[in-house]
Amino acid sequence: MDERGHLRSTVFVEGRHNEQERSMAITDANPDSFTRMDESTEQQWQVIGERTRANQGRVADRLLMLLESLADISDGFITDQLTHCLQTATMAEKAGADPEMVFASLMHDVGKAISVPNHGAISAEMIKPYVRDDVYRTILNHQDFQGRHYYQHFGAPTDLRDQFRDESWFALCEQFTDDWDQQAFDPQAETFPLEHFEPLIREITAQARF
Ligand SMILES: [Fe+2]
Ligand SMILES: [Fe+2]
Repeated sequence: MDERGHLRSTVFVEGRHNEQERSMAITDANPDSFTRMDESTEQQWQVIGERTRANQGRVADRLLMLLESLADISDGFITDQLTHCLQTATMAEKAGADPEMVFASLMHDVGKAISVPNHGAISAEMIKPYVRDDVYRTILNHQDFQGRHYYQHFGAPTDLRDQFRDESWFALCEQFTDDWDQQAFDPQAETFPLEHFEPLIREITAQARF
């Protein structure tokens, strides 16, 4: 974790991020860069590549920011969505899940910060460069697995998971949805705070590996 990344995250936690983020964006602009891509040079792209790599810590900052925003979303559930995500990740960690799966459990509903109907796909694409394929597929398809637990209330099929029965990640997705995700709506259950998971978020998103 670099010092700036830590500072920026702390600022996000305290809800005073706008001024600092804006000033960083301005100082990061390159006045010598192109105004249209078909006039760009290799040297300009080298600068962009270096800056992009140097700013990789922004990924963790933004994920933390989006997770924090889930505290505002309850939509009739007994817990807010941040608590639900933290509780799901807590269950995964206590069950001995590997770091990528704990990270994915934390992030599985972060897409709800943007759009509930397609939140699984949004969440999955956000973590895709940082987790192995079976973890990505688990988050991408978790709603179809969750259907077993409540789709009857909507007159929808509860067996949507069966289409994936031959997939390598089927058992992992069953464990995730049945043992952790669908049970993580208990205000009394142990729930590690977001700060507990921040080092994991920073470590896993430190570079794209997939
Ligand atoms: Fe979900
Ligand atoms: Fe969930």
